[in-house]
Amino acid sequence: MHFFVKSVVLIKSVLVFTLLGNFCTTLASPSLADPYVVVLNTTLPQPFTYPAAIYVGNGLAYILGGSVRESSHLNTIYRFNTSDESITLAGILPGYVYTGDCVFYPEENAIFHFGGSWNVPNVLRITLSPELDRVLEIITEGTINEDNYLLFTRGAWDSSRKKAYFLGKPSYYHPGKGFFEFDPLNINVPLRLKLIENVWPFDVANVASFFDESSGKLYYLGGSKWENSEDLDSIYQFDPSDSSLTLLNVTLPYPDDNGHLFWDKENGIAYIFEDSKITHSGLMWFKPGTMEVGYIPLEHFMEYTAFRFGLAWDWDQRRMYMFGGNYENWWEHATDRIQYIQL
Ligand SMILES: *[C@@H]1O[C@H](CO)[C@@H](O)[C@H](O)[C@H]1NC(C)=O
Ligand SMILES: *[C@@H]1O[C@H](CO)[C@@H](O)[C@H](O)[C@H]1NC(C)=O
Ligand SMILES: *[C@@H]1O[C@H](CO)[C@@H](O)[C@H](O)[C@H]1NC(C)=O
Repeated sequence: MHFFVKSVVLIKSVLVFTLLGNFCTTLASPSLADPYVVVLNTTLPQPFTYPAAIYVGNGLAYILGGSVRESSHLNTIYRFNTSDESITLAGILPGYVYTGDCVFYPEENAIFHFGGSWNVPNVLRITLSPELDRVLEIITEGTINEDNYLLFTRGAWDSSRKKAYFLGKPSYYHPGKGFFEFDPLNINVPLRLKLIENVWPFDVANVASFFDESSGKLYYLGGSKWENSEDLDSIYQFDPSDSSLTLLNVTLPYPDDNGHLFWDKENGIAYIFEDSKITHSGLMWFKPGTMEVGYIPLEHFMEYTAFRFGLAWDWDQRRMYMFGGNYENWWEHATDRIQYIQL
């Protein structure tokens, strides 16, 4: 049974599903280094799950918030140095956040954190020093309606229009009211955050997203449809110029409800970490330029499995860092582990 499932996964991995042909073709898939999973000796200061994480450049990543256990959340900002693998407390947020997400605005050395809390109903702006090694200022911007806090949020940074797009699950049932545009350059601060209404037809959690510089469009992959807990394999394209959302005629190899995506801008490939918990772990990939999708199995990942980690894509070293996380339900079996997948 187990072997059967595994071999199906392997066969699937060498197939590339394409929109351009009506049949499957075998193409050279993106590949991984060997070894591709490295577990660091450095750990987080304590086990936690559901943090947000982001790599900002200069060998530095930041890890924001997280959950230690049920109703015990974090307000910490940790800095991780990829060179000496040290973890340092870099700042304290104005409240507790978990299940939120961050984007980075490089021209202003600013991290924007969005959603993930009843405690902080705002967009948080964390301004870093020019060397990116210190937190200079933390301010709140863009309050959203009190009964519409977002959880399980994912964000993408539109680097051409200098705007962030965030999608999350409203804390109460508000179909279609979890999608926001944030414009940090709007001089009218209360108008920076804008609900994009009537675009998402239902409430969704953990929909992975990224901005594709070459097409100027955003993509939304997988996620969990809240109403019936359905894990999605859908891929949507969002055009910010007219706020239109299009369901593409291509699906992910597997449904995914964790939203762990990174965008390899240089090669035009989005990767999504996928773990079925029982049968397989892997990286699904999607190339918006050709509408191809594929799957790279992570044969040796089983023993290191963790969900709900904070993901930071270190594009300098081509590493997908994973901070903390847990498996089983919610806060159970949280880990202090730091590991990476080397592309
Ligand atoms: C979508 O793809 C399927 C299978 O390749 C094809 O039969 C169908 O015509 C496509 N639909 C559109 C609208 O392109
Ligand atoms: C981790 O620690 C072990 C045992 O002390 C050591 O052998 C190994 O080289 C260390 N690994 C790294 C990546 O530092
Ligand atoms: C990161 O580690 C490297 C190597 O030890 C060191 O040269 C650098 O100053 C560190 N950066 C920060 C911000 O601590």
